[in-house]
Amino acid sequence: PRKIIIDTDPGQDDAVAILLALASPDEIEVLGLTAVAGNVPLALTQKNARMVCELAGRRDIRIFAGCDRPLAGQLVTAEHVHGRTGLDGPTLPEPTMPLQEAHAVAFLIETLCAAPEGEVTLCPLGPLTNIATALREAPEIAPRIREIVLMGGAYFEVGNITPTAEFNIFVDPEAAAIVFGSGIPITVMPLDVTHKALVTAPRNAAFRALGTPVGRAVAAMTDFFERYDREKYGSEGAPLHDPCVTAYLIRPELFRGRHVNVEIETEGRFTRGMTVADWWGVSGRAPNATFMGDLDADGFFGLLTDRLGRL
Ligand code: BDR
Ligand code: CA
Repeated sequence: PRKIIIDTDPGQDDAVAILLALASPDEIEVLGLTAVAGNVPLALTQKNARMVCELAGRRDIRIFAGCDRPLAGQLVTAEHVHGRTGLDGPTLPEPTMPLQEAHAVAFLIETLCAAPEGEVTLCPLGPLTNIATALREAPEIAPRIREIVLMGGAYFEVGNITPTAEFNIFVDPEAAAIVFGSGIPITVMPLDVTHKALVTAPRNAAFRALGTPVGRAVAAMTDFFERYDREKYGSEGAPLHDPCVTAYLIRPELFRGRHVNVEIETEGRFTRGMTVADWWGVSGRAPNATFMGDLDADGFFGLLTDRLGRL
């Protein structure tokens, strides 16, 4: 199995991404979860990460708290999407599994330095603050990382937090610029893909029909998460942004994209946090990321429902 660290700000869709990884031990070995401030403040994201691991029956997973604010400026959160707790919808017990004492950035650096070169994949599902901080503190980790597979950005789908920016990149554009400039192989799941991963009513019913605590919790999460997207975008159901990352590790053939140049706008008065993807190769700038544009939605939901049923 591929060894990964999930960097996350749960978030209902983060939760589903984590559950999918934990349900897939043949393909994925989760070395640890690192929490970051994003959808809600760090105190809640680290707690939610522990709740999700307990839901999966995986109290053995190590969970670390990381950065509580972006590299520059104020933290922007998304309670308007995810609710006050960040994980509104299901009723889950207060977590009792421990939070590790070490800082997430220290865990990232130590793990990457100890593992053979090219072994560990990073899976960021939130703002890139923890990853950029680790790269800044220990640049020698960059060539040791096998790949970064992240959810963030948008091209044809423009933005969801500003007219031009996707939330994860917008919260910490300076961090995103460090990551995209690092030379590490990067695969991006932007809104162009995740807005096709919609939990329609029959897909939600399939989660519930699993008849397990995990199935019921995921259905309740997507029920809650869906309200915002339905009202705001007239969307057919909740977009499962972050699970695209873990699904890609299991079934990469479900996704289609292009290896292109992606730059992060950090200055623009109207465009801060925009992912400027050179989809048509007109800039002459060297490609630095595989930017996905399409997915097989039925294949994705078939995989997800099957795997969630194993928990
Ligand atoms: C991203 O922002 C968060 O609200 C979601 O968890 C996802 O990671 C989508 O823009
Ligand atoms: Ca997220």
